[in-house]
Amino acid sequence: MEGFTLALNNHDDIICNCMTITRGEILESISNGNKDIDTIGEDIDAGVICESCHDDIEQIIENRN
Ligand code: FES
Repeated sequence: MEGFTLALNNHDDIICNCMTITRGEILESISNGNKDIDTIGEDIDAGVICESCHDDIEQIIENRN
């Protein structure tokens, strides 16, 4: 069970495949004051190509706040 929980919250998971951005990088960007898709995209280039990762990024933002 512990492994399962860790997998769900793995900071090394690739969230944005186009730009190879991990959950950890998105969380770090949020910590640095970027609170929405646009500013996170400007900061680390997440979600700036196909935008299919936007729902996942939104979820990370919501769970973080
Ligand atoms: S997967 Fe993030 S922009 Fe395509």
